[in-house]
Parts: sequence; structure tokens; C-alpha cells
Amino acid sequence: MSSDLAIQVDEARQEALAALGAVEDSAGLEEWNRQYLGKQGRLTALFRGVGGLAPDERAGAGQAINKSKADLESAYTRAQQAIGLREQEARLQAEAVDITLPGRPGPAGRLHVITQTSRDILRAFRDMGFQVYEGPDIELDVYNFELLNIPPEHPARSMHDTFYIDDRLLGLRPPGASMDDLPPVVLRTHTSPNQIRMMRKIEPPIRLIVPGKCYRSEATDASHEAYFSQIEGLAVDKKITLADLKGTLAAFARAIFGSDRKVRFRCDYFPYVEPGVDLAIDCIVCDGAGCRACKYTGWLEIMGAGMVHPQVLLNGGVDPDEYSGFAFGLGPERVAMLRHGIDDLRMFYGNDLNFLQQF
Ligand code: FA5
Repeated sequence: MSSDLAIQVDEARQEALAALGAVEDSAGLEEWNRQYLGKQGRLTALFRGVGGLAPDERAGAGQAINKSKADLESAYTRAQQAIGLREQEARLQAEAVDITLPGRPGPAGRLHVITQTSRDILRAFRDMGFQVYEGPDIELDVYNFELLNIPPEHPARSMHDTFYIDDRLLGLRPPGASMDDLPPVVLRTHTSPNQIRMMRKIEPPIRLIVPGKCYRSEATDASHEAYFSQIEGLAVDKKITLADLKGTLAAFARAIFGSDRKVRFRCDYFPYVEPGVDLAIDCIVCDGAGCRACKYTGWLEIMGAGMVHPQVLLNGGVDPDEYSGFAFGLGPERVAMLRHGIDDLRMFYGNDLNFLQQF
């Protein structure tokens, strides 16, 4: 091999090794590879020079260049591994996650305040020996009104602004059939139809409560919604008196509101009880002074009640000469207003999470 080419090969090798020592990252490494080992690189150019040598020099020159090339390739592989490791460590450090940091909590669901209140009320009555039952939201007019002594022309119907359901929508009445073919259907305006349903189902002695939603097509205000809840109570047994009703409701009021709150019973009229009463609690929002929640009376009426009318007992299949009973229907929204000092019942169904998350 000509000493000229030998020097060039050695120089190229030295220069390449020095340059490789200065490379810091994979981009630099690729550039280095292109410059020395690639198609246009220094070593390839030297290979091309071999053709111009005397034939007896070519083999030696080729071997020398090949050896340098092999040296450079293994130096390149080592550098690739070292730089790869360094870069991986840097990446891991930059992307490090502190697994000891507390996680971000997702928003937790909770029971609606009216569900919580209803459950507390049910518990108070269950503790007194009442059992919980359920009845339908879509009710026959006859249960909602007629069997409760409220025939179609009765003025008490105006107390309930009723949503009537076109039973064709429910698929009950065949197309073209007249209104008389099937009895009218309503969204129940109160839970009292369950008095009849339950008396027809269960033999006395009866002690039960029926929670449920009610619907009235009425103008809403701070203490009235078109969609609200009620809990119906019914007790039927021998020798039940008004004193049992008062004692039961006073015990309920103490369990839910504490012994400090005042309870007021007043005469009221419901066609399905005789006598009828309403029960009010002194308004917690204004402490009895008068506010919009209590319509400036100082009292918030939470339920209607009374002794079950003998005709209603009969309609339920119970002999009024042998049995008597009391019934009540109370509003969990009004109870929740009193317990939490809320002055507008419409807040409960306004879906304002800031409001609902307080409970
Ligand atoms: C009745 O619905 C009777 N069925 C209650 C009853 C049952 C009387 C058994 C006698 C025997 P009233 O319409 O007053 O009565 O409603 C009873 C309770 O339901 C009210 O005291 C109130 O707490 C609640 N309530 C009635 N209407 C609404 C309304 N629009 N929005 C919210 N709560 C209401």
C-alpha cells in the first residue's frame, strides 16, 4: 500500500475517533455516521481510491481500510449504546411522576336532600312499628278521588289541580273508543289513594307508610311545587282514636325536629277523614316571626291528617263498626325546609349543584 494512502487512512481513523468522542446526542451520532461511514463518507471515499493503486498494493490497502472501518463501526456501536442510555435517563428524569403526591379526587355523588329527608322520616315511623309500601304514580281517578269520597262534581277536586292522562297514550283505550269506555287516569295528586289500595290488600291491624311523588298542575311559589313528595301513613285497628293520631305525630315531630320545636294541630277538611286536622311546626327560618317560607304566619304546615272516614273504611273492605283508623299525608320538602332553614322549596329541584352539595 502506498504510504500516502496509509497516512490518509490513519488520519481519517484518528479524526473520526476524536469526532466521535465529541458527539453528545443521537442526532450528532447520525451526522457522524453519515460523515465517516455513510455512502459519501470519508472511509467510502478511501475505498474508491484503492482502484487507482498498483495491483499489488490494492489488497493491503483494502484490508487496512476495512480494519479501520470495523474499528469505527464498533466505536460507533459503543457510543450509540452510551448515548442511548444517557438520553433515556434524561427522558425518565424529565417525565418523572411523583407517585407519593395525593391524587385529584373526582366529584363524589350523594343522595338528594329530599331523599335523605324522606329516609329519615321513614326511619322515624319504622321505629314506631310502621311498614313501608309503595303505590303507582299513574293512578286511576277512582282511587285518587272517588273512593276517597271525592266524586267528580265534589268541590274538593278544586283543591287538587290534576294532571289527567289521555289513556290512549298509555295504550289502554283502543282508537275510536269513547271516553266512557275506560275510567279516567291521573298523575296522582297525593299519596292517599294508597289508603284504599292497602286496605284492600292487607288485613287489619294495619300500620304502614307509603312514600311517593305527587303531581299538581298548580302555580308554584316558595312552598309549592308542581312535582313534590308525600309520605302517606295509615293505621287501622280496633279502638284507634284521635289521641293515637296526635301521639304518633307528636312523637314523629320530636324525632325529626327535636323536642324544642312547637307543634300545632288545627281542624282541617279532607273528605276522606272525619275529623280532619293539619299539623304545622313553628317556622325555623324566621323562628315564628313570619317570612315568605311560612307565608308570614310563623307556622309551616307539613301534613294533613285525620280519622279515616267510615265510608273510606268500607271502600277499603274494612268494617267501620269493628275497626277505626287514622291517616296522614306529609310533605318531605316542607320538612327539609324546616330542618335546614331553606326559605324556598323550589331550590330543591333547581339542580343548582352549589345548593345541593351542602347536604
Ligand atoms: C293532602 O294531600 C292529603 N291527602 C293529606 C291527608 C292524608 C289528609 C291523609 C288526611 C289524611 P295537602 O294537599 O294539604 O293534603 O298536602 C299534604 C302535605 O303535602 C302538605 O302539608 C305539604 O307538606 C305537602 N304538599 C301539598 N302540596 C304541595 C306542593 N304543591 N308542593 C310541596 N308540598 C306540598
